[in-house]
Amino acid sequence: MGCLVVIGTQWGDEGKAKMIDFYTRDADIIVRYQGGANAGHTVVANGKKFIFHLVPSGILHEGRICVVGNGVVLDPLQLIDEINLLGKEGYSVLDRLLISDAAHLILPYHKALDGAMEESSAKKIGTTQRGIGPCYADKCLRTGIRAGDVLDRNGLDERISRVLEMKNMQLEKLYGKKPVDKNEVMDILDSFRAKAEKMIVNTQSYLHRALKNKKRILLEGAQGYALDIDHGTYPFVTSSNPTIGGALMGTGLNSFDIDKVVGITKAYVTRVGEGPFPTEDVGDDGERLRVNGGEFGSTTGRPRRCGWFDVELLKQSAMMNGLTGIAFTKLDVLSGFKKIKVAVSYEIKGKKIDYFPGAYLHEVKPVYEELDGWDENISDCREFRDLPSNARDYVSYIEKQIGVPIEIVSTGAGREKTIVMK
Ligand code: IMP
Repeated sequence: MGCLVVIGTQWGDEGKAKMIDFYTRDADIIVRYQGGANAGHTVVANGKKFIFHLVPSGILHEGRICVVGNGVVLDPLQLIDEINLLGKEGYSVLDRLLISDAAHLILPYHKALDGAMEESSAKKIGTTQRGIGPCYADKCLRTGIRAGDVLDRNGLDERISRVLEMKNMQLEKLYGKKPVDKNEVMDILDSFRAKAEKMIVNTQSYLHRALKNKKRILLEGAQGYALDIDHGTYPFVTSSNPTIGGALMGTGLNSFDIDKVVGITKAYVTRVGEGPFPTEDVGDDGERLRVNGGEFGSTTGRPRRCGWFDVELLKQSAMMNGLTGIAFTKLDVLSGFKKIKVAVSYEIKGKKIDYFPGAYLHEVKPVYEELDGWDENISDCREFRDLPSNARDYVSYIEKQIGVPIEIVSTGAGREKTIVMK
């Protein structure tokens, strides 16, 4: 492996963290490339559960360097919490974590605005309220504060005063909210500087140097294809590009640097927040998927909406991301279903369409096929041949529909519950 990208192919929560943990065994450097503390990456290592929102989960592997790339929006308080927690658990972080000087910082006014905008909106997005959209908006408006800016204390003071004038006017006049206190913001930036000053570097050139020195790099995406601001179900999306373009933009690497792109794909589909979801099952089966799969948000605790596998979504995701392989996760959650539904195409007003129509997804009706299920608990199967024949048929059927090889089947949260396809 030179450079491997791991991308969520659905609406996030596909089990990326477990698979990133798996692929980290063959990586020297792990880079988070977009999103922020809206993500919650859960890893079970040595029987202990960790939920990371910012620090790449590769940090649990000795000797690996972890990088927060320039495409990430970084909440300084969250990062400090994660560094402290890791320290308490005995993981050294300070010499193994690098932060891009160009990563934008999420400050209290971003979170306040995220909440206020959602509260006052007639068409809610159901954001995680972590300040993601307002921070990326500042990046585009060129009014953002970047990690590298904290190194200049004096210049920063003046910039925060100017930014706060504008933000507090919005908060107070537009939304009737309390203004954000400048001292609170400066204290956060001071703590961030104290903790992270030595980690803040130009990660783009660091990564290019590392590739020249034959280091193996894993690029870790957050969220998933259908939440992409350009390709997803706009406006019910996140404010970044979880897809392959985001991996390049958010690290400074180029397309020739990429060797493999693995799409992490759940054996059924979930979504958190508002927005169209054609294969959602609001009945007993959906509830059973939610309970069996523990489908509750790791960042917000919200119950995830659950439904059936959607082939059109996956075909488009595979095509747009240039997937070279798929890691098929949570197959164990389907044990016990007599019949398993798969949406193989869509119809709009009685006409078949063979693509994923992003913004018009609310108009489609899925066309289903049904496959026979299996009863056995499969979480201890270590080889593909150990799976019940109907489970094997399901995996092969999905692989054929998408046209991309399934290289891993995951049957549980633990590292060992992983079948590598031969
Ligand atoms: P935001 O990213 O907080 O602005 O939220 C925008 C949309 O993306 C909402 O529907 C969120 O529920 C969804 N979202 C954001 N992060 C994640 C994630 O890590 N997993 C699943 N959904 C997410």
